[in-house]
This record gives sequence, C-alpha cells and structure tokens, in this order.
Amino acid sequence: MNDRIRRYHGIAICLHWVIAILILGMLVVGTYMVWLDESSPFRYSLTQWHKSFGIIALLLIAWRILWRLTHPPPTLPDHLQPWEKRAAGLTHVALYLLILALPLSGWIMVSASPLALPTFLFDKIPWPHLPPFDKLPNKKEIALLFGDIHAIAGYLLMLLLVAHIGASLRHRFVLHDEVMARMSPKAADGRWIAGARSTFVAILFIIGGLVMYGYSGRDSVPLGAGNSKVRFGFTVQNQALEGSFGESTVEMLIDPDNPAANRLHATVNTAAVTTGNSQVDSTLMGEDWFDPDNHPRAIFDSRELVRSEENSYSASGTLRIKGIARKLSFPVTLTYSDDKQVASGSFTVNRLDFNLGRDSQPDDETVAYQVTVKFEFEVR
Ligand code: HEM
Repeated sequence: MNDRIRRYHGIAICLHWVIAILILGMLVVGTYMVWLDESSPFRYSLTQWHKSFGIIALLLIAWRILWRLTHPPPTLPDHLQPWEKRAAGLTHVALYLLILALPLSGWIMVSASPLALPTFLFDKIPWPHLPPFDKLPNKKEIALLFGDIHAIAGYLLMLLLVAHIGASLRHRFVLHDEVMARMSPKAADGRWIAGARSTFVAILFIIGGLVMYGYSGRDSVPLGAGNSKVRFGFTVQNQALEGSFGESTVEMLIDPDNPAANRLHATVNTAAVTTGNSQVDSTLMGEDWFDPDNHPRAIFDSRELVRSEENSYSASGTLRIKGIARKLSFPVTLTYSDDKQVASGSFTVNRLDFNLGRDSQPDDETVAYQVTVKFEFEVR
C-alpha cells in the first residue's frame, strides 16, 4: 500500500515542516510582542529575534517555491472530487502568496522605517535594507502601510491555516486516505523518505549554528540595564532651568570580544517629564512640545558603541522624538562608586530639530534652541 502512495519529494517534505514550525512560531511571537509595551527591552529583543527568524523563513520559503516550480507535486488521489482538488489548489496558491508576503512586508517595513535602525541577524550578521524602500522620501507612510499589510497578512494566514490543517486532519481521521501520508517525512514502516532527514539535519545545523554564533561571547558581556536618570537643561529668558524624565529604561551591551555587537538602547516616557514647575510641566505636555498623547516615547538606539579610552565609549545612533529621527554621537563614561558601575554622559540637541516648541517658540528669544541632556544609569 505504502509503495503506491504518490508522495512529495523528501526535500519538499522537509521544507514544508521546517517552514510550518517557523511560521507558527513567528505568528505567535509576532502577535505577542506587539502587545508588549513599546518601551519594554523584552519587546525590543523579541523583535530582533523575530526579524532574524523571519529572514531565515524568507530564504527557506524562496527555496520551497523554486523547488515547487521546478518539481511538480504528485497528483492528488483519484477518489477526490473535482471541487476538492480545486479547493486544495486554490488554498495552496493563497498559502504560498501569504507566506511570501509576510516576510517581504516585514523586511520592507523595517527598511522604510524612518528610524533607519540597522538589522543584525542573530545580533551579529548585518542584513541590508531593501532598496529602494530605504531611500524613498515618503518612508514613514510606506513603513506604516507595510506594517498594516504585515499584520493583515498574519491574520489572513491564521485563518487559512485553520482551513489547511482542518482539511489535512479530515483526510487523516475522517476519510482515512493517504493525502496526509504524502507529506509525512517517514513511511509507514518508520523509514525516512529519501532526502528528508539529511535536509532536516542540514537546516537544523545551519539555524543552530547561527543562533549559537549570535550568543557566542556573551559570557564576557557586562549588561547594563534598568533604572536610569535622564535630565535636561534649557534656558528660558536667560534663566537656566532643569527638568527630568521620571521613567526611562536603558539596555546597554558591551562585548569586548565582538564590538560589532555593542549596543545602547534607551527609552524615555515623555509623559513623565517634570521640571518642578507645574505650569512649565503642563506646557511641555502640550502638542507643541513633547505631545505624549501622540508620541509617548523618545528613543535613542545605537549600534555603534566604540571604545575610545579605558572607560569611555563613543555612542553613535538615532534619537527619535515626536517621530522625528536624527543622527547623534556622544561619549559614554563608565565610573565606579560604592561598588556600583555607573554609565553616564551628556549631549546637546537643537529643540527645533524635533519640532519642540516650533509653533509657540519658533525663535530663541524666550526659550533657547539648545537643550542639554544628561543621563546616568547603573551597569549590572
Ligand atoms: C514568515 C515570516 C513572518 C511572520 C509569520 C510574521 C508575523 C508577524 C506577526 C503576526 C506580527 C504582529 C503584527 C500585528 O499584529 O501588528 C509581526 C510583527 C512584526 N514583524 Fe513579522 N513576521 C514574519 C517575518 C518578519 C520579517 C522578515 C521581519 C523583518 C525583517 C518582520 C518584522 C516585524 C516587525 C518589526 C514587527 C513588529 C511591528 C510593530 O512593532 O508594530 N517580520 N510579524
């Protein structure tokens, strides 16, 4: 009986199951991570893993589609009704389109993001942004559009998977036919289908190697995270004022063995701005200033944390306030006090670069353009 089953090729079978596992994982992790608070370092890390595995999925999906185009699948069993064959064919085309659309839209969304954060697969391997999306003038709208496409394609795929898995289970447990066995990596006698096991081992080896490479050298990494103090100084009518953000988180990674993996990611809750003067605070919460209702976070992200002296680094990255991203570089110094290691630094920005007070204070007669930001956090 088994010998008469018209099966898929071992490579197609292996790709089917590896991609299926990857996609299910991506759907679960993707849906979960967008529920998390935008400032959560855990969300940030999950998104990086999501992107890495998404690109792996894209490469495997491209291989699967090329294989499918060059190796016609076995014909469906003769006892299936014409409508069943048509439904199966249509579902499969839609599945291919969606599993291709998902990683591609994710890649485009990240490429067009105005934040222009570089992508590193498994934290180490640089992955390019997809041209021309990284250079378009209307990047922000493109990134939002493809973010929506990514989410909608995810939900459509979930629906289609229910139909696909339901139909497969119907064949296996209701019709008791061989349709599901055609995609099984093992024959009824327990032997692997030719090509399935070796392809599976090779893919597992490559993915496992990449993950381990991504983690390698982490033992020697001092990880800085947790509570941070972010203060800012500005001048109003020639009088120096100070303020701070009550809530902020920092994630800092320094890997002496692999400086390319160094990073600094800081998030500030803009609604937690305080100067000690309630009138100034309510002005800063306004639409013309930090506008926390529409822009709850200010984010700095650096992938270039280069050691300049014994305890000093130069951080270059992107500061994003009110959706406006600007490149920035400043020194970060590590000092020891009371058995604690503290990272600190400061930089100056022009408030108009981020549309802060653009309507109410367009010149610097009352409120100076320059704002000095000082930060400090404990390195664990
Ligand atoms: C088979 C591959 C993939 C699947 C099944 C998948 C699935 C998902 C899902 C379901 C979400 C949640 C969407 C929402 O509800 O808003 C998501 C979010 C996301 N995906 Fe993917 N994804 C894939 C590949 C990729 C790739 C290749 C990238 C980038 C290189 C990527 C980048 C992102 C990002 C950045 C988000 C979060 C967007 C946000 O923070 O709002 N994804 N993904």
